[in-house]
Amino acid sequence: MNIQSLLATRTKGLASSPIRKLVPLMRKPGMISLGGGYPNPDTFAFQSLDVTYKSGRTDTITETAMDMACQYGPTDCHIPLKPLLQAWHRHKDGIDLAGDQMQVLNGSQEGLHIMAYLFLEPGDAVAVSEPAYPGALGAFRAFSNTFISFPLDAHGTVTTELEKILEDHRSRNLPMPKFIYEVPNGHNPGGVALSLDRRKHLLEIARSFDLLILEDDPYQLVQLDDRPPIPSLQSLDTDNRVVRLDSFSKIFAPGLRIGYASGPAEVIRMFQLYKQGTNLHTSAMVQSLLQSYLTQHEPSDFMDLIRSNCALYRANRDAMVDAAREFLPDNVRFNVPNEGMFIWFEFDRAYDTTRMIDTDSIDLGVLLVPGGAFSATGGLSNCMRASFSMVPPDKIREGMKRLGEMVRRESARHN
Ligand SMILES: Cc1ncc(COP(=O)(O)O)c(C=O)c1O
Repeated sequence: MNIQSLLATRTKGLASSPIRKLVPLMRKPGMISLGGGYPNPDTFAFQSLDVTYKSGRTDTITETAMDMACQYGPTDCHIPLKPLLQAWHRHKDGIDLAGDQMQVLNGSQEGLHIMAYLFLEPGDAVAVSEPAYPGALGAFRAFSNTFISFPLDAHGTVTTELEKILEDHRSRNLPMPKFIYEVPNGHNPGGVALSLDRRKHLLEIARSFDLLILEDDPYQLVQLDDRPPIPSLQSLDTDNRVVRLDSFSKIFAPGLRIGYASGPAEVIRMFQLYKQGTNLHTSAMVQSLLQSYLTQHEPSDFMDLIRSNCALYRANRDAMVDAAREFLPDNVRFNVPNEGMFIWFEFDRAYDTTRMIDTDSIDLGVLLVPGGAFSATGGLSNCMRASFSMVPPDKIREGMKRLGEMVRRESARHN
């Protein structure tokens, strides 16, 4: 596909920094660098860092590794982290990423922003689910507030509907989206996963309309029923049109702010040019911590730790589902999630979840997010998102009981 023709005009001036280009060369053995304006490592404040992981393993970041953690580094990836990330991606998704196909990010949120920066002119559209992750809507809205919304059901994006909507746009000569934004596993807030058949259909749709797909997949490994994830869109893609965002937030530590983009080298190169002009690279210290962890934990060990952590989320999910069945009226619709951290509740049309939460959440002592926050079109006022990640099962049960009372109060307002 012709990526260049999709790029926003603001990207035309993006050029590689002449100093950044020197970075890989400066580390060549025998090279005497009088180039970059790097501070001398002798002046760095850190001597060493001892890390103890909950797995019981320990590590010390010291000497050259500490100097590298404190120093400026390459834009795309901390040098010793790159092969570890490539091995992780191969283990997890069965994909071999070339060196120029990945860019480490300050969390996948940065990737959402960069995609919008690179591709969206004011008025350009993005195809997004209704409901959608508000962080993505916010990132896209900074550049364009035009969305083409498609519905979700228990199997994720209703691809037949998306196809019809895009056909309709094309036949009426309306602008086509610059990309399709898809959260394929444990959708936030929908709590659903895109089925394998629909993944294949989505890729066919992208091919027939010649569109990029942005695959934002932070919940891929938050599998609540101990099943292997459905193959990623990137792994099913045969014509290089998927830009994928992986995040370590939900499986490692969100405060570290680390994730990575992978995909067509041409797009990843643009990600790098963007990073060069904004933050040069993701913190080398943070990347060193991930490097240390991935050195101490083989991909299969890491996967086992993630699976055992998912047991906690499974118990929480089960508590929320059981309590929803016990305390909510039968006309409240929801899907039981197999991945992720959320359940999306849909009430009858007359319910106003913003009013419910504004009026009663403090009094009842239970917090949820009203559906409107997840709408690109100002809808979903009869929906709300509940998260089961943070509180233990007994509190989840009590919270759902309180939600039941909130619902009772709202229905009393209608009668
Ligand atoms: C769908 C989705 N995308 C992206 C993010 C941001 O993740 P990160 O912490 O990697 O920036 C989140 C966080 O909740 C999310 O739910």
